[in-house]
Amino acid sequence: MNKTVQRLVVERKEIVNSDNFILSLKSPIPLVDVQAGQFLSINVEKSKDVFLRRPFSIHDVHYDNNTLDVLIKTVGPGSAALKDVEVGDEIDTIFPLGNSFSKPKKGEKVLLIGGGVGIAPMLYLAKILGPITSNINILLGSRKGEDQILLDRYSEVGNVLTTTEDGTVGEKGYVTDHSFMKNELENVDRIYCCGPEPMMKSIAKLAKEKQVACEVSLENMMGCGFGVCLCCVTDTQEGHKCVCSDGPIFNIEDLKW
Ligand SMILES: Cc1cc2nc3c(=O)[nH]c(=O)nc-3n(C[C@H](O)[C@H](O)[C@H](O)COP(=O)(O)OP(=O)(O)OC[C@H]3O[C@@H](n4cnc5c(N)ncnc54)[C@H](O)[C@@H]3O)c2cc1C
Ligand code: FES
Repeated sequence: MNKTVQRLVVERKEIVNSDNFILSLKSPIPLVDVQAGQFLSINVEKSKDVFLRRPFSIHDVHYDNNTLDVLIKTVGPGSAALKDVEVGDEIDTIFPLGNSFSKPKKGEKVLLIGGGVGIAPMLYLAKILGPITSNINILLGSRKGEDQILLDRYSEVGNVLTTTEDGTVGEKGYVTDHSFMKNELENVDRIYCCGPEPMMKSIAKLAKEKQVACEVSLENMMGCGFGVCLCCVTDTQEGHKCVCSDGPIFNIEDLKW
């Protein structure tokens, strides 16, 4: 599916909690070929002083009504202005951008790990993996219990495991402290991961120790979103690569971590 500029109509807006919301966007072009791990960049027209588009992962795709969902955490002026859009508004986007997570072999045991708003791409990924394997574990980590969101939706597509740093939901600690990581990691065939870089580096270290294949979704700051401005580069075994166009998904073996 080629990337294109599209004006998508906001069909649904769901306030998940005080920090997070979901926009369901109706597309004029068919969405069946959108891949898990890809993202779209949004022009924040509601703001007069946010000049650069903002990148957001594809959280879910509904083929029946041809909408895609983005899960957005409010962190600054761009995401705050997007929270002001209303149902019926048009949003100026470029999508689908970036590469995608690789597929496992039939029946492989996979572990999807999302930290913070890094949980966003894991819902659609689990849906895409469903027909390939029923052995899907989804580990979701957050700082506090109230940041553990949408657990019912993730439970529909995999076996959900949780950690919180304050210990109020799931096991206490970081995702890497979860008992699954200690006791079952060597039985896992593939890890897919998105979240803060220190979290992904810790997971990459464990995956290398246990010789488990692992892909991470990098969230470097982006300007253009399609390989022109070079502001998103990351160092790989083959030199500098653009996270927006060569990624955002990288095999940990290819990164200089
Ligand atoms: C490929 C990709 C996919 C993403 N998917 C999602 C998603 O599904 N949901 C979501 O809520 N966010 C996602 N992000 C992060 C999102 O793009 C930023 O949070 C957003 O651009 C912040 O814009 P702002 O104007 O609200 O805040 P800004 O004022 O631009 O930044 C506010 C704070 O957020 C930090 N920040 C800004 N951009 C990023 C970034 N790219 N990564 C990490 N920290 C950043 C800044 O350092 C600053 O501290 C993704 C980023 C990338 C690169
Ligand atoms: S954001 Fe411009 S090259 Fe990646």
